[in-house]
Amino acid sequence: MPYSTIRFAAADHVATVTLDRPDVHNAMNNTMREELLDVFLRLSKDDDVRVILVTGAGERAFSAGADIREFVEPLVPTSFRESRKRIDFRQVMDRCPQPIIAAIRGYAFGGGLELALACDMRVASDDAQLGLTEINLAIIPGGGGTQRLPRLVGRGKALEMIMTGMRIPAAEALRIGLVERVVPLAEHPSAAQALARTIADKAPVALRYAKEAVVGGIGLPLEDGIRLENDLATLLRTTEDRIEGAKAFVEKRKPRWSGK
Ligand code: COA
Repeated sequence: MPYSTIRFAAADHVATVTLDRPDVHNAMNNTMREELLDVFLRLSKDDDVRVILVTGAGERAFSAGADIREFVEPLVPTSFRESRKRIDFRQVMDRCPQPIIAAIRGYAFGGGLELALACDMRVASDDAQLGLTEINLAIIPGGGGTQRLPRLVGRGKALEMIMTGMRIPAAEALRIGLVERVVPLAEHPSAAQALARTIADKAPVALRYAKEAVVGGIGLPLEDGIRLENDLATLLRTTEDRIEGAKAFVEKRKPRWSGK
């Protein structure tokens, strides 16, 4: 499928998905949602890709959220019923076996922040501003924001953000655990790429099982989560890469992962 609102590139086991509507701060229209669904479905089946990086084109924004121009026409009930049949691309991201990193520069508002919340890690530049600003348009976040945000920052802070539509600067986002790293603008996006590289150099199956253990375990009672971890850790003992990792350590060399 040729894309018109996103760009896709892959090299050395790292795939980069770029939101590409810089004229409107990478606002997310229906075409972009369809293209994101397509690209994440494809990536989730691509064994050669070990890490996915998501970023925004241009210098001002990760994404300013849903394309508000599409809100101007009233929606008919049939379109709501149709939309219930569609898979949300953010759910596909949750099921993507690879870790996904958001490289956030500038604005990340509304659906843009929800996309970043559906990533596994977030690296922001120090000029970033983040917010779930939907309340200003008389709506609430509809892309998982009301569920994913409180799981990251807690109930009170999430409600404060959702009910005021406030914009949080990068340093504050770091303090409350909304992003994992903040880097000077000049080091962005290379810092996010370096994080992706560090992770992509690890054993591929171990990376996938680490994500499955953490993301799959979050919703489980502790006992069941521990069982999931135990199953995955046991399965990893059967891999060729586990032998390779131990051999490389003993032989004082870099491991060569086969992904088996
Ligand atoms: N949907 C559609 N177009 C958008 C947009 C959005 N979410 N966000 C920005 N744009 C467009 C603007 O309309 C403008 O287009 P124009 O040049 O044709 O007038 C262009 O992007 C540049 O935006 P502008 O507002 O001029 O830039 P700014 O730096 O002054 O302000 C924002 C940037 C992001 C603070 C501001 O555009 C904004 O508040 N956007 C809406 C954010 C939002 O509420 N998102 C949640 C939607 S549910």
